[in-house]
Amino acid sequence: MSKATEVFADPQAVARYAEGPPRLVPGFADLQRMAMLLLAERAPQDARVLVVGAGGGLELKVFAESQQHWRFDGVDPSAEMLKLAERALGPLTSRVHLHQGYIDVAPEGPFDGAACLLTLHFVPLEQRLRTIREIQRRLKPGAPLVVAHFSFPQGEQQRSLWLSRYVSFAVSSGVDAERLANARAAIDAQLSILAPEHDEAILREGGFTDVSLFYVGFTFRGWVAYAAAT
Ligand SMILES: C[S@@+](CC[C@H](N)C(=O)[O-])C[C@H]1O[C@@H](n2cnc3c(N)ncnc32)[C@H](O)[C@@H]1O
Repeated sequence: MSKATEVFADPQAVARYAEGPPRLVPGFADLQRMAMLLLAERAPQDARVLVVGAGGGLELKVFAESQQHWRFDGVDPSAEMLKLAERALGPLTSRVHLHQGYIDVAPEGPFDGAACLLTLHFVPLEQRLRTIREIQRRLKPGAPLVVAHFSFPQGEQQRSLWLSRYVSFAVSSGVDAERLANARAAIDAQLSILAPEHDEAILREGGFTDVSLFYVGFTFRGWVAYAAAT
């Protein structure tokens, strides 16, 4: 486990996890809903969907509540975050298989769609392309992948400006300013944040076509892309 992901092993931090994204990610609930709609555009009624970074269960819950015949496999390296997902899902867990680990523990599929929300910035740059390729390999040709994570211009001044905007948004949501100063330093030092064009290039190199931006929320961006036939 890297320093950046240690927080997901801390039971106290994990217990508070669900409060975080709605205050830190502009339009978080709509982002989840758009992800579901983008998957549903191509996925059949009884779709099999892969969720990478499924800990906490927030998107699994939204997807499972909206699509009553979808079945899910969720992977996440954090046992604590997977326990939280089980609690959040309650009876919906009957349609979800959770797997502890990285992408390699995901079943082979083939899946009708995949989502990876607020997770790829925890994947070190040298693992990013492989992770995307392993997702693509598990998808049916033409199946959608929806991703959203930190992504903003990486020039020195621009990076600093965008990190300040992340902090401003969180402060305006009521997050404690002192906690945020530490969080900003940790994000800057530990996360793998790329420029948007670099994110898009990795999706294409990883075997996806028609890469389209569908979401921009200050420091976060989201894309939908489609698995190329291999
Ligand atoms: C900020 S949480 C996002 C959880 C959920 N997708 C959401 O939107 O609420 C990031 C999750 O990614 C997981 N994670 C970190 N590195 C990962 C990797 N390489 N592959 C899959 N999940 C990873 C963490 O354990 C954590 O549960």
